[in-house]
Amino acid sequence: MRRLILLVPFVFLILNCKTKPAEPTGLVTEKAMVVSAREEASKIGADILKKGGNAFDAMVATELALAVAYPFAGNLGGGGFIVYRKNDGDVGGLDYREKAPLSAHKDMYLDSLGNVIPDMSTVGATAVGVPGTVAGVMEVHQKFGSLPLKEIMQPVIDLAKRGVVVTEKQAKRLESYKERFIEVNGEYTKFALGCIPGDTIKYPNLAKTLEIIMAKGHDGFYKGEVAQKLAAFVQERDGFITEEDLAKYEAVWRQPIVFNYKNLRIISMSPPSSGGVTINQIFKMIEPYDIGDYGHNSIEAIQLFVEAARRAYADRNFFLGDPDFVQIPLDVLLSQSYLKERMADFSFDNATLSSEVSHGTVEIVESMETTHYSIVDTHGNAISATTTLNGGYGSKLYHPELGFFLNNEMDDFSAKPGVPNMFGLIGAEANSIAPEKRMLSSMTPTIVEKEGKLFMVVGTPGGSTIITAVAQTILNVHEFNLSMQEAVNAPRFHHQWLPDAVIFEPEGFSGELKNELKSKGYIINEERTPIIGKVDAIRVLEGGRLEGGADKRGDDTAVGF
Ligand code: GLY
Repeated sequence: MRRLILLVPFVFLILNCKTKPAEPTGLVTEKAMVVSAREEASKIGADILKKGGNAFDAMVATELALAVAYPFAGNLGGGGFIVYRKNDGDVGGLDYREKAPLSAHKDMYLDSLGNVIPDMSTVGATAVGVPGTVAGVMEVHQKFGSLPLKEIMQPVIDLAKRGVVVTEKQAKRLESYKERFIEVNGEYTKFALGCIPGDTIKYPNLAKTLEIIMAKGHDGFYKGEVAQKLAAFVQERDGFITEEDLAKYEAVWRQPIVFNYKNLRIISMSPPSSGGVTINQIFKMIEPYDIGDYGHNSIEAIQLFVEAARRAYADRNFFLGDPDFVQIPLDVLLSQSYLKERMADFSFDNATLSSEVSHGTVEIVESMETTHYSIVDTHGNAISATTTLNGGYGSKLYHPELGFFLNNEMDDFSAKPGVPNMFGLIGAEANSIAPEKRMLSSMTPTIVEKEGKLFMVVGTPGGSTIITAVAQTILNVHEFNLSMQEAVNAPRFHHQWLPDAVIFEPEGFSGELKNELKSKGYIINEERTPIIGKVDAIRVLEGGRLEGGADKRGDDTAVGF
């Protein structure tokens, strides 16, 4: 008995060690933080917080600063989503996703034989959806902002005038897109010259557009001079956006998807993003298993995750679209009984073939280029925001006078729905094109609570891989006890039902692990080993300090105080 009593403190210590949160390895700050794809944008956002602005003010500043410092994905000519959690626990989501123009129709990208016309929905003016970003930031500012717009936007305008120093990664990217820029915009385009790391690119015309928006707010972009120039420019190049399209655009507040996973409460974006629904399905399919005991990126953990993702993505492709246009059976898709049934044939012995998993007919071919930023302010308000032009530099169409790239988001619609796949299933009707409809997205801005308190703010670019990258980052912290920075840096893998193949990042997965998966029937995509996502996240540490996770895969940087 005496021995037992002596043992008790040791057992407690061992259990406690296991559950003790990982020591931080990323930037740690006391009060507030912004993590984004560029240091300049994180700094502008953090400076707003330092001045006493709240997370919503910082969102406006960071989003617009990314349009200057990171034109690869930051934008005025695109759209996005935010999920917020205020310090009183109130949560919400804003949809500033692009819309199809009024003249759009289901077959607009098909030729007379019903085949998809190459490039029409991806390159140049015909690919452009009605931009939502300016409406998004103005809506956020109007509803929750605390500082005057001038105070928030002036540092962004100053940055555009001063210019942005080109990083090594950015120089490489600009070089690799140069021919495309010239093809779309002609040889005199600003981006035909090329640049080397250390060069400074100035954006005086973007600064002028931002000044108009600063003076006139939402209408500065959607009506008057800017709208006229934008619509005329797109139409002269056979595109579809009209002044009426711009005048009618509004951002929409939406209820986020909220669910529990063990002792976490996860808040993520609802349709027209597929992010929240799909991540909810994945987590709920995983929940009955002790994934934390299997080991980080172990065979069993990968199998379980892949099988949940396979099933969730099959549903995603079939059922999800703009909720203002299609009925989505969310109560069924997210019910415990349905998800249990979906995993009923899962076994650790063998892979389930995607041909045996019903629903969905279309392979997701989505661009990987988007950008995400996470914000926590001094009051404990949090914002998770993901924004995009779709492809890198969107449609590559650059408005020289207004100073920004235009999206190619129309490509996120199903250009050719209703075609039976190899299993005879008809799908993707939910995401077919219609006037004023929003195209389905994978963006997954997410906030996590633990025991009722703010715990994590997380998100990433990566097209269809966004959802799996966000889910793995949360699991890395919660189940595998990695720090925020370790969780962000950790190697990632992806499966999306079709094509039926697991994609691994180039580093971090051994040949032995892949061979064992192959022996269980998994198809490994050996040719395609891209980097998966660039996660920018914040973890709230015990005592309220913040740890940033800025993805080492990009120029991403955490700034705070
Ligand atoms: N264009 C990428 C996404 O919306 O998910």
